[in-house]
Amino acid sequence: MPIPPTARPAAPGRYEVTQRVASVEIVPGTRTEVWGFDGIFPGPTFDLRRGERTTVRVRNELPVPTSTHLHGGVNPPESDGYPTDLVVAAGRGFRPPPGEHMDHDTVKWTFHSGVRDYVYPLDQPAATLWYHDHRMDFTAPQVWRGLAGFVLVRDDEDDALPLPKGERDLPLMICDRAFEEDGSFRYPSKDRSLLVRAGIDDDYMEGVEGDVILVNGAPWPVHEVAAVRYRLRLLNASNARRYQLELTPGGTFVQVGSDAGLLAAPVRHQRIVIAPGERFDMVVDFSAYAVGTEVTMVNTLGEGAARDVMRFRVTRKEKDDSAVPARLSRLEPAERAGAVATRVFDFRRTGHGSGAAWTVNGRRYRPGVPLARPRMGTTEVWRFTSDFHHPVHVHLAHFRVLSRGGKAPAATDAGWKDTVDVRPYEVVEVLVRFTGYRGLYMMHCHNLEHEDMAMMADFEIV
Ligand code: C2O
Ligand code: CU
Repeated sequence: MPIPPTARPAAPGRYEVTQRVASVEIVPGTRTEVWGFDGIFPGPTFDLRRGERTTVRVRNELPVPTSTHLHGGVNPPESDGYPTDLVVAAGRGFRPPPGEHMDHDTVKWTFHSGVRDYVYPLDQPAATLWYHDHRMDFTAPQVWRGLAGFVLVRDDEDDALPLPKGERDLPLMICDRAFEEDGSFRYPSKDRSLLVRAGIDDDYMEGVEGDVILVNGAPWPVHEVAAVRYRLRLLNASNARRYQLELTPGGTFVQVGSDAGLLAAPVRHQRIVIAPGERFDMVVDFSAYAVGTEVTMVNTLGEGAARDVMRFRVTRKEKDDSAVPARLSRLEPAERAGAVATRVFDFRRTGHGSGAAWTVNGRRYRPGVPLARPRMGTTEVWRFTSDFHHPVHVHLAHFRVLSRGGKAPAATDAGWKDTVDVRPYEVVEVLVRFTGYRGLYMMHCHNLEHEDMAMMADFEIV
């Protein structure tokens, strides 16, 4: 199993990364053209520290414009990767194609030629974040081609815990892809150039799934492990696929962190559902298996080949100084009493055939026209309602799940999150805290096809 290389700073606090076309071997014996950060998929891992302000210069050498979003980052609005704030390769002209599912009448495009500096203050706790493309109308095909990678934020609190470290701390980017005979990515874009026309074939309204499961860019990889504890930072970077992950022959995931940081105390799971955009920071103790055992991480929601995700081969015994302490971090209780407002956001489909779109509160995305104006420093209850599976992601503001389906949150809802799996006809209430920066941010469904089909909304922190 590949482990993405760690990005090296060009100078203290400064990184440079280039988005470019590359040819890589994903399916053995074939070549795949990827669009990658530094030409690799996943892109390099940025290993960063809380409070160390970091500037990442993104150079775009791709044939298409891009916008880079640090998912889970508490970013100033101008560095948040807004979908119409684009970087276009130097010397390339670009005229945005007309909206297919959303009106472009409110769009104010911003273009940067060649490069763009994104500034990340990282005033936030240790967590597994990720970065990916966020271009208006084209996020789904551009992420599918490879524009995604990890950002690990570290801090003293997390470092001081006796959790597995070094090569026993593994980021695992799980995503599905489909391939043509010749090895190229298969994706149902109406226009493969992604320049002239937005949109995908009508049959894929619900989202695009692939029949090959990749972990860190490799199909169904095998990773050799010692019979000790490992920290597995699980990320679902798929466009639309949800996974129910379990270990066979049996095994327990001990969750230590969620999307935005450590839990208060570990939570044990036999299985978890992970929706697009979510992260689960898990410890798995491979000393529970005899040397020689192959432990398969399976997706019990998947059919056929999509049932397997990856395997761990337990090859040796080693000394293990790690532990999972009973207390991990301090989390204030999520109390709705302090909330200054309650708002409802309804995630729902409208229309039929080529007129169909995914909406928030009945509205297709209108950039710059916020649906809500929460006040800086306050907390609010946001109630998400849904007609389908919609993994709802809020930029900037992290939240705690208060209730799910009128009942207590699920075991997998613990901790600070930025993405929550809202299931069909379910109501999920979250307590959102607005800190960091004033300005325009967005929330959207992280099913990337839904996102491109208008299921986004702005909010403005005032
Ligand atoms: Cu990971 Cu707005 O997205
Ligand atoms: Cu959705």
